[in-house]
Amino acid sequence: MKVLVACYSLTGNTWKIAGEVRDILGADITRIDTVDAPNWDMKCMSEWVQDRARIKPCEQDLGRYDLLVVATPVWAWLPPPAVNEYLAGLKNVRGKKFAVMATAGKCGFEDVINDIKGKLEAKGMEFVGSGQFLSGEIACGDYKSKAAEFARSLKMPAMAAL
Ligand SMILES: Cc1cc2nc3c(=O)[nH]c(=O)nc-3n(C[C@H](O)[C@H](O)[C@H](O)COP(=O)(O)O)c2cc1C
Repeated sequence: MKVLVACYSLTGNTWKIAGEVRDILGADITRIDTVDAPNWDMKCMSEWVQDRARIKPCEQDLGRYDLLVVATPVWAWLPPPAVNEYLAGLKNVRGKKFAVMATAGKCGFEDVINDIKGKLEAKGMEFVGSGQFLSGEIACGDYKSKAAEFARSLKMPAMAAL
């Protein structure tokens, strides 16, 4: 089974979890990154709450993959605009499986997972699981066993030997 982990991470938390899952699943990883750096000036808050943001080229063709793991932070109870853009541009998705792993300071996990679930199921993909990781846990380095548990929970045939 071939797995692609697609990760957006502005401050590094989600990237750490994504790396663990990549290692456990023997997956490829692609980084979702914006063309324009986020502007931290509060006057530009509106940029954050837009639906979409331009992203750099990354792997969006699932043709040679069986499972997509979307790794995303929670932004105001929603996926970040870069993640929305990534999902909208996916190719060869029909019948492919997907999972969502979300990081957040405290809340909004279910909202983000359900948002992504709805978008990808509408494209004909099959949801197989989700994981939730608090940024506090990640900061203490207390995430590796939970990330491993999440990866194994995906119950892919490739995991049977683990
Ligand atoms: C613009 C923005 C909005 C955020 N909104 C939420 C939120 O709604 N709920 C929450 O618990 N954390 C929220 N956070 C915190 C992040 O989800 C959390 O720190 C996450 O782990 C960051 O991931 P990253 O380091 O991979 O970018 C927000 C952070 C940013 C920058």
